[in-house]
Amino acid sequence: MMKLIEKTPKEKLEGVGLLRLDFNSEDNWRMKAALPTLRYLSGPARVLVILSHKGRPIGFSKNLSLKKVAENLGKLLHRKITFIPHFNFELIKHEISRAADGSIFMLENLRFIPGEETNSAELGKKLASLGDYYVNEAFAVSHRAHASVSAITRYLPSYAGLGMAREALVLCEVMNAPKKPLVVILGGGKAGDKLGVLKFLRNRADKFLLGGAPANTLSMLEGVKVGKSLVEGDKKRLKALKAILAYRNLILPIDFRRSGNSIFDIGPHTEEIFAGEIKKAKTLIWNGPVGYFEEAAFAKGSLAIARAVKKNNKLFSIVGGGETVAFLKKYKMTGAFSFISTGGGAMLDFLAGKKLPGIVALEKNGKTNRTQKK
Ligand code: 3PG
Repeated sequence: MMKLIEKTPKEKLEGVGLLRLDFNSEDNWRMKAALPTLRYLSGPARVLVILSHKGRPIGFSKNLSLKKVAENLGKLLHRKITFIPHFNFELIKHEISRAADGSIFMLENLRFIPGEETNSAELGKKLASLGDYYVNEAFAVSHRAHASVSAITRYLPSYAGLGMAREALVLCEVMNAPKKPLVVILGGGKAGDKLGVLKFLRNRADKFLLGGAPANTLSMLEGVKVGKSLVEGDKKRLKALKAILAYRNLILPIDFRRSGNSIFDIGPHTEEIFAGEIKKAKTLIWNGPVGYFEEAAFAKGSLAIARAVKKNNKLFSIVGGGETVAFLKKYKMTGAFSFISTGGGAMLDFLAGKKLPGIVALEKNGKTNRTQKK
């Protein structure tokens, strides 16, 4: 069991809290999602130190610095956030020890340090030495066994933040006890990335509705002429995708919107079929837009889905993935969904039945019931 901050006596969350957040999105929606936990902790914690990452840098890269992120978060939170541009842990400790009550610090992009992405125990220990307890409010990076997500929990009492706890609970519920029928919609630009979900939910989903690259790829494997459309290129993955064609609960588009000889969206007849399935559904999971929504002419399929979701007031709907959320924001449709996951890859891994290292680490920490700093 993970220890949750909202179930933890406030006095255990005093001192210096290390808070892992995920700022790896184009706009600030993940930042906004973390505000309740930030507000919750900035009361009892004397000092908060935010740990985060951005992009996939190899060594230091100025344009992936978190300096600007610290400024933006400070504005959103209406608090001063002191950005620490170096990883001299002795100096950082010194600065924290002199900080006034209520101070908030943010460390530089952790992926600049060797050891973060290899889950180095040494780095985990160094990070842990900065605080008295650790909170993971970064579901979106919890599929990565990285030092600030996993190793750090070996050395400190560790908790799940408000959003992290809710996200894990909601996803667990829709996977293990969904109200039926369960409809799963998969689109986006990478077909192979959806394989795990297709396999794991094969016997749980009543219907899979496919658009985007997964639909292009499977249609191509069925003999449809897809021209230069976005399809899976990896041979091994193509073979695995071919096996999906045997699923009886699979619905592929019957028509498309094209430009030149490429598919850019599902067609109007497919929209009707998808809307009909959504109308009957009680639970819906959606990851990946079904068209190239950046152009209005190819946003129609995804819009038809969002509108059908909005109309069904008996539906519990979960949506995730950076592109899908960007689409919903662009068309002001986020309110149509019951739950928006902050995770892209993390959501897909969770729905593919994989144990997320960040959650496993919190669960282990919960079992040892570690309440003292090591
Ligand atoms: C995300 O944006 O999905 C997470 O921050 C993880 O990023 P990564 O795929 O670069 O590890």
